[in-house]
Amino acid sequence: MANIAIMGFGTVGAGVAEVARMNHDSIAANLGEEVNVKYILDVRDFPDSPYAAKMIKDFSIIENDPEVDVVVETIGGARVALDFTRRALQAGKHVVTSNKELVATYGRELLEIAKEKNVNYLFEASVGGGIPLLRPLFQCLAANQIEEIAGILNGTTNYILTRMVKGGVSFAEALKEAQAKGYAEADPTADVEGIDAGRKICILSDLAWGKEVKPAEVSMEGISALDLKDVDIAASAGYRVKLLGHAMRMEDGKVAAYVAPHLVSQDNPIATVDDVFNAVMIRGNAVGDVMFYGRGAGDLPTASAVMGDVLDVIEHRTKRRNIGWSEGACLADIKELSMRWYLRGEFSAEAARKECGEAEELAPGAVITAPMKEADAKAAAAALGACAVLRVL
Ligand code: NDP
Ligand code: HSE
Repeated sequence: MANIAIMGFGTVGAGVAEVARMNHDSIAANLGEEVNVKYILDVRDFPDSPYAAKMIKDFSIIENDPEVDVVVETIGGARVALDFTRRALQAGKHVVTSNKELVATYGRELLEIAKEKNVNYLFEASVGGGIPLLRPLFQCLAANQIEEIAGILNGTTNYILTRMVKGGVSFAEALKEAQAKGYAEADPTADVEGIDAGRKICILSDLAWGKEVKPAEVSMEGISALDLKDVDIAASAGYRVKLLGHAMRMEDGKVAAYVAPHLVSQDNPIATVDDVFNAVMIRGNAVGDVMFYGRGAGDLPTASAVMGDVLDVIEHRTKRRNIGWSEGACLADIKELSMRWYLRGEFSAEAARKECGEAEELAPGAVITAPMKEADAKAAAAALGACAVLRVL
């Protein structure tokens, strides 16, 4: 029998306990041994929970129990979770997490401790919720040089955009719904302002290119400044507006990474991804484009990914997955990237063409430019008096 301890009995932690319970027999049959949730650590009391007898408040019980094989960290944040994760790894325990803030910010250090202690630190659930994404990236695509990664990396904002456009509800109402469904972060600013997707594009970049991309150095723009008018104009011209994380390896070896809302042509499969679903395109130099799609947040989908890591660890107890990244990716200035831009204002298509060269008119006063650098697009927007400037994928 393998014993696990869950730290943080919220949306994901409770989901992990539920998956372990509902699939107990099939998991035991596949794994060849039972997986027992020995402890659940939380600051709150759950007297009516069926797990009440397993609830503890003192982390040192987990730390000092030699029977605990795997610690599941679903507390979130980078304070207590960092301390407990360091200590669990130092105590020689495998750790599995869904905490992207911790992985994006302290992953390099935590993976080094895991290596020293010959244990695993796995975090499949930290990007893409229930989508099998990180293991395919570092394992199945290992023979490729990864050229580009682009996708919808935040379920909450995709849910909000979908509800606003298709359900006609307000931003505030849609956010409340996302919170009630357990999709949003404890502080939903991280979702709405692109910070959560930013952490995820950092983790994907770390794994893809082996060098740490620090969240603090990545440009992150969310959906709070989006005007529904632009979403409507885009829709009537065959585009959808999506919040995308985007990273690519440049010819000089630098990595460009950022998060921003984009117009996406409806011919691109990413455009039709709605609700809490995420979709990520990874381009490898051998495989070409591969797409990953599924629920990007929520209790059971995320728990599915967490438990997948737990089972992997248990099955290969004495074998460490060789995951890690070194310090200091060289980041490209995203202002130097050439891309098409959507501009809207009180200007004619002719005036836009004078400023930008080619320009496709989507509606009166709304155009998509030819590829140009950000500084040039912003200069053209200023000259035209444009009130909306968005990237086009
Ligand atoms: P929740 O806030 O629902 O759960 C966290 C739980 O940990 C709460 O019960 C919280 O209690 C408890 N907690 C807080 N501090 C401590 C502490 N010091 N010791 C023990 N327990 C503590 O968060 P989620 O389950 O939504 O998210 C957990 C992590 O997973 C986050 O990193 C999140 O980003 C990530 N994630 C979440 C997904 C989702 O769909 N929700 C999907 C993928 C990843 P209290 O409420 O009283 O603070
Ligand atoms: N708040 C996150 C989201 C949870 O909405 O995508 C999943 O990481």
